[in-house]
Amino acid sequence: MKTILITGASSGIGRAAAVHFQKQGWNVVATMRTPELETELNRLDNVLVTKLDVVEQATIQSAIQEGKERFGRIDVLLNNAGYAAIGAFEAATESQIARQFDVNVMGVFRTTQAILPHFRSNKTGTIINISSIGGRVAFPLLTLYHASKWAIEGFSESLFYELAEHNIQVKVIEPGNVATNFTGRSLDVIVDGSLEAYKDYSERILQKQMESFRTAVSRPEVIAEAIFEAANDPSNRLRYVVGEDARFLMKVRSEMSDEQFMAMIEENFR
Ligand SMILES: NC(=O)c1ccc[n+]([C@@H]2O[C@H](COP(=O)([O-])OP(=O)(O)OC[C@H]3O[C@@H](n4cnc5c(N)ncnc54)[C@H](OP(=O)(O)O)[C@@H]3O)[C@@H](O)[C@H]2O)c1
Repeated sequence: MKTILITGASSGIGRAAAVHFQKQGWNVVATMRTPELETELNRLDNVLVTKLDVVEQATIQSAIQEGKERFGRIDVLLNNAGYAAIGAFEAATESQIARQFDVNVMGVFRTTQAILPHFRSNKTGTIINISSIGGRVAFPLLTLYHASKWAIEGFSESLFYELAEHNIQVKVIEPGNVATNFTGRSLDVIVDGSLEAYKDYSERILQKQMESFRTAVSRPEVIAEAIFEAANDPSNRLRYVVGEDARFLMKVRSEMSDEQFMAMIEENFR
């Protein structure tokens, strides 16, 4: 019986993944910042709900340790925890910028470094990073989020090579819009009332962004299925684009020049 450790399993994609892997007969270490609030996952067989905050190293170590003690070993790490800062870059405070990277990038670095000794001693393992179609293309007003997801893309692609030496796989999931809590609890809206220069632009684009988030095309269960496919895919495939919107974007991106693609995006947000 295989075991997956999931970060950010309290909600959305992480939660759907926990349920899906459990249904498929896997052991699940469903980690979250506030496990004391969880009431459903801890009722499922072979699911260990425990604390892991990706900005707190000690909680990462203890969650991995607990997972190993309960299930013997961990086979897959799913780096899912994340959120998006949105708003004019000039208006972002240093702490907003740092936090975006602390969670979305440093968080992935910390959990990955923490699990690698275990994977190497098992002589196998799989790291699955939740990126986004926003790790391949960029939209207005999401500078920090895109920078964090593009970082995950470069990190994962490079890591792929060095871990292949140790029979450890790296996979990247790139969802389009997913119907989760992402646009509510997981949006950090950057507002600096004193920066009038961006006010009209920000309001207009933010409204368009919200409209596009609301037309989310994929349910989190669909992303969970893609994660399961990746976890069981022995091939050297690195990237899994998930969702009709994401596939469409990648297709047009490959057919257009930078200028054509960016003009299309600008037109969409006009
Ligand atoms: N929804 C989309 O359209 C979409 C598209 C592409 C990619 N993604 C990516 O999918 C991932 C999951 O997002 P979602 O859509 O499922 O949103 P969500 O429902 O809001 O879930 C976000 C999860 O991340 C957790 N989290 C935030 N900060 C954390 C920290 N410091 N330590 C541990 N966990 C933390 C949250 O935990 P708490 O409950 O403690 O806040 C929550 O469980 C993110 O990486 C996101 O970038 C989402």
